[in-house]
Amino acid sequence: KQTLRHSLEGENVVVVANREPYIHERSADGGIHVSHPASGLVTALEPVMRACSGVWVAHGSGSADRETADAHGRVRVPPEEESYLLRRVWLSREEEQGYYAGFANEGLWPLCHMAYARPTFRLEDWRHYQAVNQKFADAVCEEVDSEAPVILVQDYHFALVPRMIRERLPKATLITFWHIPWPNAEAFGICPWRNELLQGLLGSSIIGFHTPLHCNNFAEAVDRFLESRIDREQTAVVHQERTTLIRPYPISVEWPNRWVKDALTPEACRASVWKELGLGPDALLGIGVDRLDYTKGIEERLLAVERLLEGSPEFRGRFSFAQLAAPSRTTIERYRQLNDSVEKLAARINRRFGTETYQPIILMRAHHEPPDVFRYYRAADVCYVSSLHDGMNLVAKEFVAAREDEQGVLVLSQFTGAARELSEGLIVNPFDFEEASRALAAGLAMSREEQRVRMRAMRAVVSEFNVYRWAGQMVMDAARLRDRERLTERL
Ligand code: F6P
Repeated sequence: KQTLRHSLEGENVVVVANREPYIHERSADGGIHVSHPASGLVTALEPVMRACSGVWVAHGSGSADRETADAHGRVRVPPEEESYLLRRVWLSREEEQGYYAGFANEGLWPLCHMAYARPTFRLEDWRHYQAVNQKFADAVCEEVDSEAPVILVQDYHFALVPRMIRERLPKATLITFWHIPWPNAEAFGICPWRNELLQGLLGSSIIGFHTPLHCNNFAEAVDRFLESRIDREQTAVVHQERTTLIRPYPISVEWPNRWVKDALTPEACRASVWKELGLGPDALLGIGVDRLDYTKGIEERLLAVERLLEGSPEFRGRFSFAQLAAPSRTTIERYRQLNDSVEKLAARINRRFGTETYQPIILMRAHHEPPDVFRYYRAADVCYVSSLHDGMNLVAKEFVAAREDEQGVLVLSQFTGAARELSEGLIVNPFDFEEASRALAAGLAMSREEQRVRMRAMRAVVSEFNVYRWAGQMVMDAARLRDRERLTERL
């Protein structure tokens, strides 16, 4: 954290991300309630912004966002300890529909996740995406107060923003981080605006992905679709005389973690969760924590639990799986369908194995604030992350951060970026219910000593490669690049 602060000292730092870190909502009693959105991006970036001040430009989405901001959409956050500026950008219903629900989430999201949902590309969504990207680029340019600011562009909502900013601020250091996977060139090539997206991104000084595989996929797409030169030695792309570095930066969580600091002891968390769920004294608890999204493999997860109860009768009546599922992107049909199918599946498994006093699947469809999520992390015997395809998955790392007691077993999909780092978890193919149910059984039967060895090793990784390291590495690479550019200018 100190190194990050130090490297950014005196710099003008602006983050642009669709999701805002604090949402102001008008509550039923007429008061204003501040909530934290369920977003891996926010989880990671918010502590970074606390550490380095600056400005976060985001879409103002809460019902009381306007009244809590000034005439320019600015409000100082966090509410309890104001340390940076949140600049909200207002979008019309049509803009939100076309740019966010349409092009970003019905086009780019399935395109990049290859998660068996067919991408939909509509010209009117693309037009909104272009216009909203311009709106955010303008807002960023209004917020900078130097010729050469450091701008951190976040995610697939803003592929066009780097180039738009570069045209106005040629000396800016633009670091773009793509929080989701980047597919292979063949798959990416079906997007009708593939060239525009690539050119937009190449306005960046650096583009970061979670894994080397996604970096290679991106370089391959540039090579295939644009007039460019790939500098394999530097892992960079040269396009229209601009060099953009391509680097893997595995994202992570805050360490020490804010929500752990204030949490109850693991024993107290267990007692409170047991009471809340009405579990018996010898019950065993598995948990899943996700946005209700089809890439997270929630149906596959419940089917693995069903398989476990089918094949291992000793867990019937004893093992419950609590799924914390935050409703997400509910204006999109595919997400509504998922909501219905998860509900039906949970009901079917509960009818099959449940009794009057025992419920195998406890489906909690609501937004849970971080302190609540951490209470569940600290209470669980097993946490199962079953994404079908995921850039990183921060739930896995949060679970590890939460377990100071070095207990609890992580069952983790091999299709997450996190599986590369957390290899002491039980790594499974979520499509293979047999394998996943065996891993759940092994996790539930694991000795305390083995849990300790595995958890300790994973905690060592997450504590060292924490989110400050992620941001610090990007900023340091950018600083080196900037110095090199300045030296070349002098020649
Ligand atoms: O981390 C990937 C991501 O798509 C973020 O960009 C986003 O904030 C988060 O998941 C949650 O999605 P949404 O902002 O659409 O609710």
